[in-house]
Amino acid sequence: MQKKALFWLFIYAFILFISVSFSIKIEGIAGAFLTILGVLLTLYALALIIIAGKTLKKYAHKEPRDSFIPNKLTNEGIYSCMRHPMHHGIGLLPFALALISNNLVAILAALLALSSAFGFVLIIEEPELIKDYKEEYCSYMQKVPPFSLDLRCLEKGLLALQNRAYIQENSKVALKGFEAKYYDILINVLTFGWYKGFIWQAIKDLGLKKGDYIADFGAGTGQNALLMRQYIGKEGKIVGFEIGKEMQEQFLQKAKNFDNIILEPSSILEEVKQENAFDVVFLSFVFHGFEQKNREKILQNAKKLLKKGGTLAILDFNEFDIEAAPFYIRIPILFLECPLAQDFIERNLQEMLSKEGFKEFEQKVYFKGYLRLMKAKKL
Ligand SMILES: C[S@@+](CC[C@H](N)C(=O)[O-])C[C@H]1O[C@@H](n2cnc3c(N)ncnc32)[C@H](O)[C@@H]1O
Repeated sequence: MQKKALFWLFIYAFILFISVSFSIKIEGIAGAFLTILGVLLTLYALALIIIAGKTLKKYAHKEPRDSFIPNKLTNEGIYSCMRHPMHHGIGLLPFALALISNNLVAILAALLALSSAFGFVLIIEEPELIKDYKEEYCSYMQKVPPFSLDLRCLEKGLLALQNRAYIQENSKVALKGFEAKYYDILINVLTFGWYKGFIWQAIKDLGLKKGDYIADFGAGTGQNALLMRQYIGKEGKIVGFEIGKEMQEQFLQKAKNFDNIILEPSSILEEVKQENAFDVVFLSFVFHGFEQKNREKILQNAKKLLKKGGTLAILDFNEFDIEAAPFYIRIPILFLECPLAQDFIERNLQEMLSKEGFKEFEQKVYFKGYLRLMKAKKL
C-alpha cells in the first residue's frame, strides 16, 4: 500500500513540477470550454474516489472495520461496473485539474501521467490481486472491465451505499419540516410548474359528482381538497385524514372558509370507526410510501369506509421498469424518493386491489405513462 501511495505521490509531484515550470496558455472560447470540462471531470473523479472508498469500507472487509483498505474481494456497487474505480479517479484528477488551468503543458503532462498510472494498475496491481484472490479474481476479470466512463457506474455505486430495505423506517411519506411547510411550492418549482395542470386534470378524471362524500387519505396541505370541492358542491363533504403537523396547519388554513372540508387528524393505518359511509376514498402520492403489509391495512380501511358501489382512487406512480426509464425519471425515483417507491413501482397494483376484493378497474395514465390514476369499485 505504501509503495502505491508513493507511486501516486510521484505522479502528482511530477505533473505539478512541469505545470509550474512551463506554461502555454490556451485562451478564448477553447480555454473556457476546457475549464468547464475540467470542472465536470474533477467532480466525476472525486465522485469515483469517494464512492470507491466507501464501497471498500462497506463491502471489502472480512470483519467490520473502519478503513477502506480491503482484505476481501468485492464486486458490489461500483466494483460491479469496473475493477479499479479508485485508481480511475486518482488518475483522472490531475488531468481534470490541468484542464481547468488551461495550461497545455500541464494537460500533456497529466495525459502522460494518466496513461502510466493506468499501466501501473494493469501491470503491477492486477498480478498482485491475481496472486491474492486467484480464480476468484480471474473470473471477476472476465466479467468486469478495468475502467469505465459509463455514468451509470456512479449510480450503481451510490445505490449500493444506501440502506434500501423496503421498511417503513425508510419511508419519506410522512413529510416534516421544510419539505412539509413548502410542499405545494416545492412540487411546482421542481416540476417547472407542470404539476399544477397535471393535478387539476387528475382530479377532473376522478369523475366526482355533486354531493359526493370523500375521504382524502394523506390529504397534505388541502390543495387537492379545494380542487375536489369544485365538483362536489356545497352538498358534498371532504374529510382529510392527515397526521403531519405542518400539513394539518396548512389544511386547516385552506379549509377555514368551507364548512364541508374537515380535518381528521388520525393515521390511515389506524382501524377506521365508520363503515359504508363514503362515496370515494382518494390517495394522491401516498400509497407508495408504505411497506406492503401497511398498504394492505390501508386498503382494508378504505374498503370499510366505502359505501357499496363506492370508488377507491389511487393517484401514484405507474408500474414500469426503473432500469430502462430515462434518467430524469430514474434518478429522482432512486435518489429522492424512498426505496418503498421502487418496491411499489415493481408491484402489480390491480392484483393488490383484487386481493382485497375491489373490482371494475379503470385507469388513466399521465406523464408518458409514468404516473397513473387507478380507480376500483367496492361492489
Ligand atoms: C407526498 S404527501 C401527498 C399529499 C397530498 N395527498 C397531495 O397529493 O398533495 C403524503 C402525505 O401523506 C401524509 N401521511 C403519511 N403517513 C400518513 C398516515 N399514516 N396517515 C395519514 N397521513 C399520512 C403525509 O403527512 C403527507 O401529507
